[in-house]
Parts: sequence; C-alpha cells; structure tokens
Amino acid sequence: MASVVVRDVSLNFGAVEVLKSLNIEVEQGEFLVLLGPSGCGKSTLLNCIAGLLDVTDGQIFINGKNVTWEQPKDRGIGMVFQSYALYPQMSVEGNLSFGLKNQRLPADEIAERVKRASEILQIEPLLKRRPSALSGGQRQRVAIGRALVRDVDVFLFDEPLSNLDAKLRNELRVEIKRLHQKLANTMVYVTHDQIEAMTLADRIAVMRNGIIQQLDAPQAIYSRPVNRFVAGFIGSPGMNFLEGTIEGGATPRFNAGDTTIDTKGYEFADKPETGTKAVFGVRPEHVMLGEAARAMPYTSEVDIEIVEPMGSDTLAWTRLGGQNFTFRTDSEYAPKEGEKVLIGFDPARASLFDAHTDIRL
Ligand SMILES: Nc1ncnc2c1ncn2[C@@H]1O[C@H](COP(=O)(O)OP(=O)(O)OP(=O)(O)O)[C@@H](O)[C@H]1O
Ligand SMILES: [Mg+2]
Repeated sequence: MASVVVRDVSLNFGAVEVLKSLNIEVEQGEFLVLLGPSGCGKSTLLNCIAGLLDVTDGQIFINGKNVTWEQPKDRGIGMVFQSYALYPQMSVEGNLSFGLKNQRLPADEIAERVKRASEILQIEPLLKRRPSALSGGQRQRVAIGRALVRDVDVFLFDEPLSNLDAKLRNELRVEIKRLHQKLANTMVYVTHDQIEAMTLADRIAVMRNGIIQQLDAPQAIYSRPVNRFVAGFIGSPGMNFLEGTIEGGATPRFNAGDTTIDTKGYEFADKPETGTKAVFGVRPEHVMLGEAARAMPYTSEVDIEIVEPMGSDTLAWTRLGGQNFTFRTDSEYAPKEGEKVLIGFDPARASLFDAHTDIRL
C-alpha cells in the first residue's frame, strides 16, 4: 500500500495557481525528494501533505486514509522545517518532550521516546543544554529529534540542511540517510539542492512552476531527462547544450556549424525528421580526452580556451560546433590553455531535445 498519495492536488493563492493537478504515490518506506528551483511550489506541496495548507482541489491519503480535511496533528506525520525554531527558554530535553507532554502521554513513555531519539541522533550529552549553547548542526539534529519522538511512519522535511555550512550539510546528509536506513520510514524531503536529491532519494520528483516534470529514480533522471529543464537542473557543472539541426535517416545526424554528430546508439522516442531544430546535450563528465577519446564513436580536435583546476578534477572550456563546450578531466592529465586536444564522447549517452518544445527526442 502506498504510504502517501497526492491525487490531482491543485492549490491557488487568490488568482495564482501554485500547484497544478499534481499526482504522486510514495511507497511505504520510500525516500521521495521534491526537487526544483525557488518558488516552484515544493514547500506548498509539503504543507498540503502536512495539513498546514488546505488544497483548492484534489485529495491526500496517508496510510490509506483520506486526510484531506484532517488536522495536521491527526495525520500521523512528523515535520522538520528549514528554520528550526526551537524554544529558546527550554533545554534540549524540554524541546523534545514538549509536544508529547501536550498530548498528555505518560511520563515514562515520554522519557523512553526522548531517550531513543537522542540516542539515534547522538545528542544525549546535550539534553540539559539550551539551544543557544548548541552549534547549527546540533540544533538541526534537535529539530529532527522533535519529529522523531512523535513515533510516526511518515516524515516530512522542508530543506532541513539549508541553514548549515557546506561541511555540516554533507555530514548531516549522511546522518539523514543513516536515519532512514535504521527507521525504514517514509520520507518526503524538499530541497533545491540537486546533490542532496541525488544522494538521498529512492525517487526524485523534479518540479517547475507547480508541475511535476519527471518522477523517477535519480539515475534515470540523470541519464534520461525528459526535457531540457530537467537535464539542465541535474548535474554540476551543467550539461552542454549544442543547438543545431537534425538530418533524418536510419541513423539521424546532428549538425551544428561545421560539426556533424552521428547519433548511432541513441534511443530516439520517435525518429525525428530532417530539418528538426534540436538541442544536443552532453554531460561534461562524459567527455573523454586524448587516448580515451580515440575509443569513442564521436571525436573532434578542439582548442582549449580556459582551464579551471578544482582539485581532484579540472574543467576545460572549449568550443564545439561554434558553441561553448565544457568537459571534466582528471587534474593529472588536464590540458593547458591554448593547447589543441582530441576529445570524444558516445552519443548513446547524450540527450537530444526538440528545440521548440524542449522535450526529449
Ligand atoms: N501565502 C501566499 N500567498 C501568495 N503566494 C504565495 C503564498 N505562499 C507562497 N506563495 C507563492 O507560491 C509559490 C510557491 O512557493 P513555495 O514556498 O512553495 O516555493 P518553494 O518551491 O518552496 O521555494 P523555495 O525553494 O524558495 O523555498 C511562490 O511563487 C510563492 O511566491
Ligand atoms: Mg520552500
């Protein structure tokens, strides 16, 4: 049975349609990430699931029960917000147990749950401290603990790591993954960070302007994005997009300036016709250099314009088909600015889009 079902959910703020007939089914124990740029409606959707916002249309089910008009507290969910808003005058223990005391749970039950949550999150030594005496990462763990003590099977997270510095964010990301492994609960997790989405999710729902663009496993979204928006949103540095024209046939070819790329091995949804304006997408990490390039179906000699050393690897900027093109190489073998090098890639791993509709060809 699906754990969370969002069925035809729409939400308007006045005349503005923020969510447009969304459908999602989250499996029991699944880690689903809602990913998209600022303002696309991620928090709004999460708040609808939590019951903090009323939907304009559609229904929400949690564990088989229609909760569309239930109060947040009756939905069987625990929520962690971006701004963790702990009660400053209470100790960590007080913050963790506050909601449970309000529910009038027996004292030994409360103590047991606080103990279990603080063990899992490794905040036992901090229980007597006030939030002001904690680091950002520790405060965030307390905020997660507040959801954890509720002992529910669905957790909703809204950008829980975005207030933290990069190092802490990476550490807590792994902890959240570990937490999910241990508890095997259902998670719906909002982020605009594609790395967080790729590393945590069983499936990612990529959103744009209140519409789900693609709902799939991270690897599928990375290698077969359904449109140019998804292709550009996932991956860092972003996918190269070359603009050109298709020459139809058994194996269509892509022409851009003086460059022709044979699309052998590429799986077209529908073979495009000659003259179709298209965008050819190649990920910088799929481009090979020198000897390794020679083994690729497509190769080209290019001039290196700029190199950006990034430690373990280096980004090189060049031009292909008269357009900007970047690729990633091992820093040991990085080319130099002004050098002429052979690059190559496999068009079977590329993504082609219709230039007018942006939809995958
Ligand atoms: N109370 C409101 N009244 C009117 N418009 C609102 C209201 N709340 C949010 N919006 C609008 O709805 C849209 C979606 O907002 P939402 O907070 O869901 O975005 P988000 O994807 O979570 O973005 P972010 O990554 O910046 O948190 C935005 O355009 C926002 O301006
Ligand atoms: Mg938000």
